Amino acid sequence: MTDITYPTELTNGLSRDDIIARLKERLDDARFEHCLRVEKTSRKLAKRFDEDIDRAGLAGLLHDYAKQIPVTEYRQVIQNEGFDQALLAYGRGIWHGMVGVWFIEHEVGITDPLVLQAIERHTTGAPTMTPLDEITFVADFIEPARKLDGEVAARKAAETSLSDATLIELQNTLTYLVSTNKVVYPQTLLTYNALIRQTN
Ligand SMILES: [Fe+2]
Ligand SMILES: [Fe+2]
Repeated sequence: MTDITYPTELTNGLSRDDIIARLKERLDDARFEHCLRVEKTSRKLAKRFDEDIDRAGLAGLLHDYAKQIPVTEYRQVIQNEGFDQALLAYGRGIWHGMVGVWFIEHEVGITDPLVLQAIERHTTGAPTMTPLDEITFVADFIEPARKLDGEVAARKAAETSLSDATLIELQNTLTYLVSTNKVVYPQTLLTYNALIRQTN
């Protein structure tokens, strides 16, 4: 049971239960439960850093809405809805943020630009992230089920600094991608460069 509710002007009239019903249509149980944990973690971070708790919670709840949408549906949307065709060379790992927001807008009906931007950036980051973007990005990585060393270190950093936690997460993600022979989406590198310049 939870007592979380969202202001309807933020959800275009949808209740949290309506949104949860939509999530369940697109996600298996494990991924859905992860979304609930990221929602909770996002709200906690927003409270801690005095940011918008409802926007943070809503972005956390919906961030992986599009994670399991079939590749064929993604390809159609990328080809027909004005996306950069270079995206076709990537996969759902990248798409579910950048293109996922298209599905969230059209299937769920959430249109708040700040919420959508936070979701759009949650896998790649962006060189100029807002605190809300960083909350979604970090909450995904430090929700309670995350137990790896890098995740624990980011959780610790997030007690005092969102950008420190963001940098730790990026370093871990890049290290993982490179060490497992995976491509790096250019924006992820640009995000890393921007953050490292800020800290140096
Ligand atoms: Fe994700
Ligand atoms: Fe996630």
